[in-house]
Amino acid sequence: SEEIYLNYKGLMFPKETHSLESLEFAQEFKFKDEDVMAVVYPKSGTIWMQEILPLLLNGGDLTPIHTIPNWDRVPWLEEKRLALLVDKMASPRAMVTHFPYQLMPPSFHTSKAKVIYVMRNPKDILVSSYYFHKMAAFLEDPRTFDEFVDTFLEGKVLFGKWTDHVKGWKSAELGNRLMYITYEEMVQDLPAALRQMSDFLGRNLSEDTIQKIAEHCSFKTMKTNKMSNFSLVPKMYMDADKSPFLRKGVLGDWKNHFNSEQLAKFTSAIRKDLDSESFSLPWNLD
Ligand code: A3P
Repeated sequence: SEEIYLNYKGLMFPKETHSLESLEFAQEFKFKDEDVMAVVYPKSGTIWMQEILPLLLNGGDLTPIHTIPNWDRVPWLEEKRLALLVDKMASPRAMVTHFPYQLMPPSFHTSKAKVIYVMRNPKDILVSSYYFHKMAAFLEDPRTFDEFVDTFLEGKVLFGKWTDHVKGWKSAELGNRLMYITYEEMVQDLPAALRQMSDFLGRNLSEDTIQKIAEHCSFKTMKTNKMSNFSLVPKMYMDADKSPFLRKGVLGDWKNHFNSEQLAKFTSAIRKDLDSESFSLPWNLD
């Protein structure tokens, strides 16, 4: 795994997409007050936010969505590409990150940049991640599902333990710069979720525009948008025949994967890790 991953401040990063220079560049990054960032633990809806944010910020103009691949349209704070793009990005700049709170750069804390933290049921994250590890050549093979449950619970996955990520961002003291939303709310009622985000970002979008954005950001539409479905990435890096990036986009696929033993182990480990926390989670963990 040392060949595939690089260790930075105790967390694992795939060398193919991340370098020490890019991670250090992220630490030096100068946030502006108008910046908008989605913070998403991997497999919780990152690519979805890369579709949504530009449309909310530009009032529903589909041009960027049809002309710029998602990784250049809304770059990752921690990836190599940011350094190449940053000077060309017009304000308000939209970005995403998988960073846990403690890796956010100093300028983030002193700026007024806004953050949308997207959370997803960890059991569905685990399933989604399992298939992602199978299809992405720059990630370690997940081996069996049973083994991957342990890997996930031990936090030997990208960006560390899910519970640490949630704990860090849930206790972040950012006042009205930060809003929380769940993948589940987005699946169940995307227009309502878009309205909440648009209000948070201070955009007054008409109901027509919200509906248009929702239609464009549906799983079905995104799956056919080559600027968003990763089909432009060579098969040797991401093999959609093994598993498409836009895989199912549903709630509760974990029920098709976990046996009762895995479920019991998962639930008790997550409970234990979150034990001392005062916040409650929006999902029933059992
Ligand atoms: P599944 O593997 O469960 O289908 P990320 O972008 O953070 O890696 O997250 C990927 C997950 O988000 C995948 O989950 C993918 O299908 C889902 N996703 C992406 N766009 C979506 C959309 N428009 N609607 C529902 N799910 C979406």
